[in-house]
Amino acid sequence: MKILVTGGTGNVGGAVVTELLKRGAEVRVLARKQPEGDKLPAGVELAIGDLLDPGSVEQALQGVDKLFLLNAVATDELTQALIAYGVAKRMGINHVTYLSVFKVDQFRDVPHFASKLAVESALREFGVSYTILRPGYYIQNDLHLKDALVGAGVYPMPIGTAGIAAADVRDIAEAAAISLTEDGHDGQTYDIVAPATISGPSNAAMWSKLLGREIKYTGHNFDQWEQTMRSRMPSWSAYDLRMMFQGYFDRGFESTETEVARLTKLLGHTPRSYEDFAAQTAAMWKA
Ligand SMILES: NC(=O)c1ccc[n+]([C@@H]2O[C@H](COP(=O)([O-])OP(=O)(O)OC[C@H]3O[C@@H](n4cnc5c(N)ncnc54)[C@H](OP(=O)(O)O)[C@@H]3O)[C@@H](O)[C@H]2O)c1
Repeated sequence: MKILVTGGTGNVGGAVVTELLKRGAEVRVLARKQPEGDKLPAGVELAIGDLLDPGSVEQALQGVDKLFLLNAVATDELTQALIAYGVAKRMGINHVTYLSVFKVDQFRDVPHFASKLAVESALREFGVSYTILRPGYYIQNDLHLKDALVGAGVYPMPIGTAGIAAADVRDIAEAAAISLTEDGHDGQTYDIVAPATISGPSNAAMWSKLLGREIKYTGHNFDQWEQTMRSRMPSWSAYDLRMMFQGYFDRGFESTETEVARLTKLLGHTPRSYEDFAAQTAAMWKA
């Protein structure tokens, strides 16, 4: 069985490739250019193409049985997703596993959530076998916080105080691989959530303990955060993320024990925790 992975050179897609290989699947990755060095594991086929170019998507899908569909956050995310889905449907794909986001239906004012909600609607409408994965806030996002935590001594992400759902990329990848290589996942939507929620103050306290110094949560002044981010990313992207963080704060993004229990059953183990990630990362940074 051959599976096409979009986003296979990125964080989640790369982990999905690894999990699929472990399960004996043949894997092809769609990427816009030749990945650097040994970024693709041995035995993985590469299809150079672009999700905005339907012809290249069609070529990448030749001889493919199933599709893992991940779309990067972009202004044309919805178009990219619907091109991949539409071409795959026309070519008779057997199954699509789609990477969405937790509580997608409650954040319709956040552009990248709204795109994913529209794609989910298409998946439910057109009769192709599908699985939807809805992960929380990626635990591995915080790998980028080394300078803030080790240098400035701050936890800078405005994730609020109430507690939000987190997700380990490795659990997302396992769930994706299970849905693509085992039966019984057609029409299923799985929330991918860690055993405990995370918050600004609790993460700051955890890192304080691990790094042996005081780490302060910088709070959630969304106007100020968006303003700062405009100098580091396109302003539409700063707006999109601000709306997401503000939505977490205004509406909540909390996972439940029921959701954790369902994922535990799917994976066959307890989902990975932020606490373990932080401990391993702190040890790595100290070394
Ligand atoms: N971060 C979070 O907390 C979080 C939580 C829930 C859901 N999500 C969702 O996760 C997704 C991002 O996953 P990630 O972190 O794994 O992304 P990533 O590491 O940034 O990787 C993005 C991938 O998309 C590919 N790509 C981008 N534009 C493309 C195009 N036009 N045609 C073909 N491929 C293209 C890139 O390939 P090349 O550049 O190599 O071509 C790369 O492999 C987004 O949909 C986001 O909304 C994120």
